Amino acid sequence: MKTILVTGGAGFIGSCYVLMAAAMGYRVVNLDKLTYSGNLDNLASLKGNDKHVFVQGDIGNYELVQYLCKEYAPLYVVNFAAESHVDRSILDPEAFVRTNVLGTCALLRAVKEWHASLDKESAAYKDFRFLHVSTDEVFGALKPADPAFTEKTAFAPNSPYSASKASSDHFVRAYYETYGLPCLITNCSNNYGPRQFPEKLIPLVTLNALKRETLPVYGRGENIRDWLHVEDHCEAIHLVLTKGTIGETYCIGGNSEKSNIEVVKTICAILDELRPHENGKYETLIQFVTDRLGHDFRYAIDCSKIRNELGWKPKHNFKEGLAGTVKWYLENSAWVENVQSGEYRRWLEKNYTGR
Ligand code: NAD
Ligand code: DAU
Repeated sequence: MKTILVTGGAGFIGSCYVLMAAAMGYRVVNLDKLTYSGNLDNLASLKGNDKHVFVQGDIGNYELVQYLCKEYAPLYVVNFAAESHVDRSILDPEAFVRTNVLGTCALLRAVKEWHASLDKESAAYKDFRFLHVSTDEVFGALKPADPAFTEKTAFAPNSPYSASKASSDHFVRAYYETYGLPCLITNCSNNYGPRQFPEKLIPLVTLNALKRETLPVYGRGENIRDWLHVEDHCEAIHLVLTKGTIGETYCIGGNSEKSNIEVVKTICAILDELRPHENGKYETLIQFVTDRLGHDFRYAIDCSKIRNELGWKPKHNFKEGLAGTVKWYLENSAWVENVQSGEYRRWLEKNYTGR
């Protein structure tokens, strides 16, 4: 059985990938620290499925990663684990250095040493690949008329989050160049879809609206993001993992640029239709608030490379994908309730045994 060691597989994107990989027949060893954004409810459908081996732990735990590699001999490692929220990085940059930089370095070293110990003629050695999941934020911010980011765009990270991700990308590249670890990197634009932690724009606005709370829009809401459905992102990751050229990076995006205010108003319109409210339209809840420090104006990805080389293109269009996502939040009130009440955190405190 082919095994993938997935890190951060209880988070938003990682859980989507774990579900996809298990459905494809891979055994998935899922190493996740279960921080505030890691949630085993995301993987409820895999309960009792022996294709999913969950291990609570830190990617920065070198001994643990070495043990998992020796025990499960993964053909692939896919690194999703990260501190992922820009606003939190502005409040506490060091937490981002710890996981995104130091954690990734420890993970790389443990994987590299295990890989180097394998028989050089074995398929386990030759076919092995390490994919690092990264972000378009490493490229900085675009002005309205700038061309979209490509794999050749110079790094210019602006937030502590993007600086930490850019650093981890450099270390992955260095492990390929210096030690020959077969690495690939993907840089993706903003994801949306089911199971996103409600600190991010789309779930935050959806859930605030349902509670008739204000919908905070930073600045004038003119900043632009390029939105991609999480399932399209995970399909692209798997394609790069299995068919991409080792040592290369691939940009992934939705070709779907929207201003934040447009996104928020679209969510309001979807809710007006699905859950009309007697007190009036959801749009009336919008409030322009103090802007994010150093707020990047625009991100956009040119996906020519992954499209031309690997034949990838997104399947979801934004309008339908967003409606499906809002519907998912309406239909999964138990998930929402657990996340918002801190139920799964209490569960963690009660059940966490550590290693
Ligand atoms: P998320 O915050 O939902 O999930 C992160 C997961 O990593 C959680 O399950 C958390 O428990 C785990 N984790 C955190 N620190 C860890 C550690 N030290 N050891 C082990 N596990 C740890 O994030 P997400 O939105 O799913 O993002 C996943 C990855 O994709 C990140 O690397 C992020 O930079 C990248 N990315 C995200 C987006 C996006 O729009 N969300 C876009 C492009 C790239
Ligand atoms: O571009 C990829 C990145 O997208 C990922 O690497 C990050 O992990 C992910 O969090 C996301 O970063 P953003 O900062 O773009 O996502 P967020 O959902 O936090 O914000 C989207 C936009 O909405 C951004 O311009 C800030 C704005 N915003 C956000 C929040 C939470 C608001 O106006 N109000 C809000 O309350």
